Formats: sequence, C-alpha cells, structure tokens
Amino acid sequence: MKAVRIHSFGGPEVLQLEEVQIPKPQPDEVLVRVHAVGINPVDWKIREGHMGMGPLPQFIGSDFSGVVELTGSSVRDFRTDDAVFGTVADESGSYAEYALATVSQIARKPLSLDHVHAAALPIASLTAWQALVDHAHLQADQTVLIHGAAGGVGSFAVQFAAYKGAHIIGTASVQNHHYLRELGADEVIDYRSVHFEDVVSDVDVILDTQGGQTQERSWRVLKRGGILLSIVQPPDEQRAKDFGARAMFVRCDHRRGDQLARIADLVANGQVKVNVEKVMPLSQAREAQQMSQGGHLHGKVVLVTEVSGH
Ligand SMILES: NC(=O)c1ccc[n+]([C@@H]2O[C@H](COP(=O)([O-])OP(=O)(O)OC[C@H]3O[C@@H](n4cnc5c(N)ncnc54)[C@H](OP(=O)(O)O)[C@@H]3O)[C@@H](O)[C@H]2O)c1
Repeated sequence: MKAVRIHSFGGPEVLQLEEVQIPKPQPDEVLVRVHAVGINPVDWKIREGHMGMGPLPQFIGSDFSGVVELTGSSVRDFRTDDAVFGTVADESGSYAEYALATVSQIARKPLSLDHVHAAALPIASLTAWQALVDHAHLQADQTVLIHGAAGGVGSFAVQFAAYKGAHIIGTASVQNHHYLRELGADEVIDYRSVHFEDVVSDVDVILDTQGGQTQERSWRVLKRGGILLSIVQPPDEQRAKDFGARAMFVRCDHRRGDQLARIADLVANGQVKVNVEKVMPLSQAREAQQMSQGGHLHGKVVLVTEVSGH
C-alpha cells in the first residue's frame, strides 16, 4: 500500500509517500481501507518533533474515514465492509491507503455523511465536546468565550455551545465573522483590531486554543468561579487561584468512539455542520500540512486516497 512516513523530523519535505506492507490487525483492532484523511495541527507538530522524538520511520496522521477490510479476532461490534471513522491505533498512521484502528476509537459512519466530512470530525470535534460538555459542563444560562472560534476545534466548540443553548462570544479574523454567526455565535470579536478584554467581562467558560498572551489576558474576563480550559498550554494554577477561578488543560481522549457516534448523529440530523475548506489527494500531504501550519484555516483540510474515487 501507499503510506506517508517520516524518516527524520523536520519541514514538510520529510513527508515521504512510500510503498509499505499492509499491516495486520491485533485482536481488538480493525484494518481499514482509508478513503479520507483529516489533517490536524498535531500532525505537523509530530513531523517537526515537538511532540517527542519517537522511533523512526514513523507513520503520520490520526483522523480517517474508510471501510473495514479485516477484523481482529476479538472484534464483535464491527464487520468487513462497515463504513467507519475515527482515529488510528498508536503504531499506525491515517495518511495511508490502509490503517489500523482500535475498536474503542471508531464509530459507524452515518450514510448521510460522506467520507470527506466524516474524516474532518474526530480530533477537532472530540476535543471541543470533551472541553465544553465533559469538563466545563456548559449550561444554557452561561456565557462562553471561544478563542480561535473559526478553527477546526473552535468551529465545533461554537456549534456544541449553541446546541447547549449557551451565549457564545467568539474571536476570529474579520473575514470569518459571517461564518461564525452562521455557526451560532452571538458576538464576534476581531482579535486583530480589538482587545477582547476591553469588551468582554464575567464569562463562565473560556476555551483557549491559542495559549501565550491570549491565555494570560483571559483571566480578567472570567467570572469568579468560572473555568478556563486550554487545549494548547497548561494554565497556571496560581493565576487561576488569584482570580477565584478554575483551570484545566484538556488533552483529547481518542478512545471515545461512543462520543464520535453521538457527534455523528448531530451532524446527520443537521444540528452540526462540518466545514471542509480543501480536499486534496494523498500525494499532496506536504501542501496540506503547510496549509494547516499557516494557522488561519476556517474549516478542515482533507486528503483523499485513490480508493475513494475522488
Ligand atoms: N490538547 C489537545 O488534545 C488538542 C486537540 C486539538 C487541537 N489542539 C491544538 O489546538 C490548537 C487549535 O487547533 P485547531 O485544529 O482548531 O487549529 P486550526 O484549525 O488551525 O485553527 C486555528 C485558528 O486559530 C485562529 N487564530 C490564530 N491566531 C489567533 C489569535 N491570536 N486569537 C484568536 N484566534 C487566532 C485562526 O483564526 P482566523 O483564521 O480567524 O485568524 C484559526 O481559525 C492547535 O495548536 C492544536 O494543535 C490540541
């Protein structure tokens, strides 16, 4: 099969599309014929060695949508030819024609959702759901401030917050404001021309997708008893105490196929939209990661394999 691997850490040029053996599933894994691959910022962070320098060569990519080709000996819930989506097993990579996935990390793909849009869901939607629903327990009478609201995680966060009935304030570049309102944001702030702390106060929940100064300036807009959740930089516990607030770093738990199924239902019912900005062939993995690394996507970049028929 064709798969993208790296033999050293570095720029996009270290991504190599190679011919490799099709892997065999462990008892609790399925082998999936990959149709579409969702790109996440963590993919280029791994490529550059920011997430630790694991053994090389290394497969790349996590999010996929495809069709089960083979099941491991203990798999009962999925069968050959089932259309599934999710994240790959640790030793595998989704930038490939075939990938391995542990059953706890996948869900059935609804018929009404195509592979391209299903592949755009896993990490971004799970992270947003886990932050706002599992950890912040966001309620209808609360206000949430979402930084980077037009990004992969942010755009799902806005929609999940709207689903919960919360009041939503999102920050984004001005060209994304219309898009954010369509997703359900009540107020939008152009972070390039307005200091959000000048116009926002007393929010219950903050989702920080940026870290650095954005996180530091966020404390003073949080209500006492509010919560700041960061997905990029562990918040300072002492700062949280100083402001009478709670803080937490959220790392996406990939083993939540059950949550993926629930999110897929929301998409299938039309309550949540998946915005795909660009679809490219697997052979353009380098260009796709460069787009992600640019940091100003509104929506996801998805790669398709030849089997997908695109
Ligand atoms: N902890 C975890 O498990 C986890 C999971 C998923 C993602 N992450 C991390 O979370 C971050 C966001 O991921 P993503 O997939 O949403 O990225 P993305 O799709 O690339 O989106 C980035 C967004 O950031 C916005 N932005 C850039 N500078 C900003 C600023 N100063 N203030 C506010 N917004 C700004 C951009 O908005 P405009 O285009 O409007 O300028 C863009 O929409 C990445 O660093 C990723 O690695 C962590």
